[in-house]
Amino acid sequence: MDTEAGPGARPHAPGTGRPVPEAEPGVVERWRSGGGGELVELLARVREEVGGVAAFRLGPAPTVLVTDPTAVQHVLARFPERYVKRSHRARLLIGDGVMAATGAAWKRQRRLLQGQFTGPGMRRYEQRITAAARTTAERWDGYARTGQVLDVGREMHRFALDAIWRSLTGYPLDEETERELAAVEAVAAAVPTLPADVADARDAVAADLARIDAVARRAIEAARSGVAGPDGPGLVHVLTEAATERPEYTDGLIRDELVTLLAAGHETTATTLTWLCLLLDRHPTAREHALAAGGEGSPERRQAIQALIHETLRLYPSAWILPRHAAEDDTLAGYSVEAGTDILVCPYLTHRDPGLWPDPEHFDPRRFTAPDGRPAHPGAYFPFGMGPRACLGLQFALRESTVLLEHLLPVHVPEFAATPTKAQYGITVRPAGPTPATLAPLPA
Ligand code: HEM
Repeated sequence: MDTEAGPGARPHAPGTGRPVPEAEPGVVERWRSGGGGELVELLARVREEVGGVAAFRLGPAPTVLVTDPTAVQHVLARFPERYVKRSHRARLLIGDGVMAATGAAWKRQRRLLQGQFTGPGMRRYEQRITAAARTTAERWDGYARTGQVLDVGREMHRFALDAIWRSLTGYPLDEETERELAAVEAVAAAVPTLPADVADARDAVAADLARIDAVARRAIEAARSGVAGPDGPGLVHVLTEAATERPEYTDGLIRDELVTLLAAGHETTATTLTWLCLLLDRHPTAREHALAAGGEGSPERRQAIQALIHETLRLYPSAWILPRHAAEDDTLAGYSVEAGTDILVCPYLTHRDPGLWPDPEHFDPRRFTAPDGRPAHPGAYFPFGMGPRACLGLQFALRESTVLLEHLLPVHVPEFAATPTKAQYGITVRPAGPTPATLAPLPA
């Protein structure tokens, strides 16, 4: 069993509640006979018909969907030792990195990385993030001058990959590394939405994994031989240094941490920024309000830009589903949950609950600036998760998104040639299709 208990963990009376209410089989059957559709459609129906803690059956054993804020907090933050991550969906890609690790190994790995992504540790990345934002802004100036079509989603991926690559290695992202690291996305796309669907997909993505391993090996060897990039040493140097005193940091584990941070640290931010551009296309006044909130570099403008990011993350929390596994019997919101039950916590549905968020489908960044604009319950908004397994890169993600938008918003408004009408719900929720756009020429 995992030992990720927070300080609040205490003994409990196991499974003393009522059975979790269950969706009638017809709900799943109707979803299946309609061609399956997106998993989110089934989950939305289950929540609507049953409630914020609801069981349904995809196979013989029930899965429990958790969207009620108090139950969310119970699972993720108050009793994380009872609801553990089990064989991570993306283990194929991230191996034993901090996102997939459990128990004592996770604790050690998290402790080392935590200091790198908070407080003074984060300050080391400031200049690298700004440099990545400037590079993107200059590229966009070029598109505006030439009228060349850009793909906003592709651009956001390039930016987020550049920011994290600089932070990990000290080098800006060059074209060859960018091409090689496309393999990370290819493998991530092969990761199933639900842990139960993990087959051994390793063979299908073997070539991509080999490419990723080669990039990681080069970065580790460079760090070992004392070579630092133009931006100075990166996180890979911290990890290779840790290895001199801590034998658990084998080359394999360093590779897994690097790939974890690359994978977790760019797709999520990139899709958030892409959704944000698409939402601003439909709600142009939100951009105007953010820019009018204060002058360049002012705290008011920064706060308004952060409200745009949060409102985007409310509607499209890129990690839209957080699977857990009940490690022991428990009573959750008055219901009995048996050890072994699969749990799905779903920020996407909590964030769109009309009981918590009035007019939930409407994009309104003022929810995050007005004094009573959002529900006070911490379990009502959790795009970065909650509790000990919450996002390690929260500060990094908010910082890089804010800095990029501070560079782009005052200058460029993408004119989309076409916008995807649907979302694709895989390991992240992303626009289902390309996002081609042009930029208006810059004033002379
Ligand atoms: C908008 C951007 C991002 C979003 C929405 C996001 C969301 C999340 C969420 C919801 C979790 C918790 C998963 C769970 O409980 O099962 C998580 C974990 C994690 N995230 Fe992020 N993330 C973002 C950006 C980043 C970045 C930039 C990094 C790295 C620099 C990062 C690194 C991680 C890691 C390593 C974990 C695993 C932590 C652990 O298990 O101890 N994330 N993220």
